[in-house]
Amino acid sequence: MATWLKDAIFYEIYPQSFYDTNGDGIGDFNGITAKLDYIKSLGCNAIWMNPCFDSPFSDAGYDVRDYKKVAERYGTMEDIENLFAEAHKRDMHILLDLVPGHTSEEHAWFTESKKAEPNEYSDRYMWTDGWLCGGAGLNYIAGESPRNGAYIVNFFKCQPALNYGVLNPTERWHKSMYDPACIATREAMKDVCRFWLDKGCDGFRVDMADSLVKHDDENKSGTVAVWQDILGDIHAEYPESAFVSEWGKAEQSIKAGFDMDFYLDWMGNGYNSLVRDYEAHLNAFASLPESLDDSTENNSFFKADSKGTCDHFIDEYMGRYEQIKDKGAIALITGNHDTTRISYGLSEDELKLAYAFLLTMPGNPFIYYGDEIAMSFRSMASKEGGFTRTGSRTPMQWTSGDNMGFSSAPADKLYLPVDPAENAANVEASEADQNSLLNTVKTLTSLRHSQADLLDKSNLEIISRKPLVYKRGNLLLAVNPKNTDTQSRKLAELTGDAKVIYSIAINGTQPGIADGVITLPTQSFVVISC
Ligand code: NOJ
Repeated sequence: MATWLKDAIFYEIYPQSFYDTNGDGIGDFNGITAKLDYIKSLGCNAIWMNPCFDSPFSDAGYDVRDYKKVAERYGTMEDIENLFAEAHKRDMHILLDLVPGHTSEEHAWFTESKKAEPNEYSDRYMWTDGWLCGGAGLNYIAGESPRNGAYIVNFFKCQPALNYGVLNPTERWHKSMYDPACIATREAMKDVCRFWLDKGCDGFRVDMADSLVKHDDENKSGTVAVWQDILGDIHAEYPESAFVSEWGKAEQSIKAGFDMDFYLDWMGNGYNSLVRDYEAHLNAFASLPESLDDSTENNSFFKADSKGTCDHFIDEYMGRYEQIKDKGAIALITGNHDTTRISYGLSEDELKLAYAFLLTMPGNPFIYYGDEIAMSFRSMASKEGGFTRTGSRTPMQWTSGDNMGFSSAPADKLYLPVDPAENAANVEASEADQNSLLNTVKTLTSLRHSQADLLDKSNLEIISRKPLVYKRGNLLLAVNPKNTDTQSRKLAELTGDAKVIYSIAINGTQPGIADGVITLPTQSFVVISC
């Protein structure tokens, strides 16, 4: 595993919306370079940048037209190489976003694959063998090309699925995952990885990593085998490269060779029960109201006045954690470009406690740009395939000045409108306010970097659930996110040597330890060295 991962805290950047340096209304590579010192000041020493490759942007760049070319809107190859170099100078690392399961329908491979005449790329994608032949359980598009077949899609219509084969072919058009054409797809993806690692990136976040082998791969043994091959080679050639999967089942992804897997809630793993447990908003696929008002039932554990517990999360998380803790990691996120902003359902005070938890758990945490200042989720028209997700992809708010410091372009030329609210959060104001969420994030990240026990990924023990008390080596951590009651508990770990090394007391009363009992006033968090 890459040595730099040990104390990496990631910052996710949606490049369109981060910082525009050439005044065209859209963020660019030079904008990220210009803000590296800010990111570092937050305590984040690693970046995941959403796709930045040549693309028609029908799915915000997750529809890649050329894996080896940067999208012009972000700058040049020199600019991105400079970004890598400047990051490395600051001891920071950058993951690009690898989209291995599909390309854009405008990719040259697909242009060839669509042709009626057989050619080198005919089997690069999954095609049925008849013009109106269904996908045998897989989503397909027919009638779009002269080829006598329909193609399987991985996501949107514009994203034809690359062909990694199937475990046990049952249709005439199925190819075995060991067919030379499917092996060629894997080799093409290794080639993309090598290309960017040679340019200076430090690894990849991998999109829909579990989606490669289709049809009968329910337990993912086929997809795991494909990744073992790809990552086996790449890790051997680039031992300091890191790979993070969008998979949702760490026990499979780590076996596949990933360094870590995101803890995403598609499969009901309890993540949303912590911070996004409100009806109809459990994912970003539904339509959302402008804001969550008091009439909305919000059962999130970190909602101060909710009855929500951490049970669902702990039950699910610990099962997965125990299986992978010695081999890889689970990455907890504040949110990402697909989720509603975490601030949609939680206030800044509630976020302080939620971040305290997320930033002190094992595995590498990910902060989504703007979540450090509680940027708002806003309902807005879809942009580039974002649909509801667009509301979490708006321009970063740097200052209270024009376009909130994001760009010097006229407001109507911006990628998305900046937050029109008079009191919209911004970095400048947050930095100046000692009590801001941003400054709490900074103290939490520096706590994490300074405590070896917080960096160890295999030492988590849950001691109690109410209050939530967890142990990381010689550190005992506890949180009471509720504003309803003080929570206390006798703990064998609290010997005479125990001392508080960090605390958050939203309502002014500090957590305490006395006579072996931990007391957590309403809305408080504490770290105790034992
Ligand atoms: C997951 C990505 O996070 C999402 O933004 C994208 O639309 C789909 N995969 C398809 O690539």
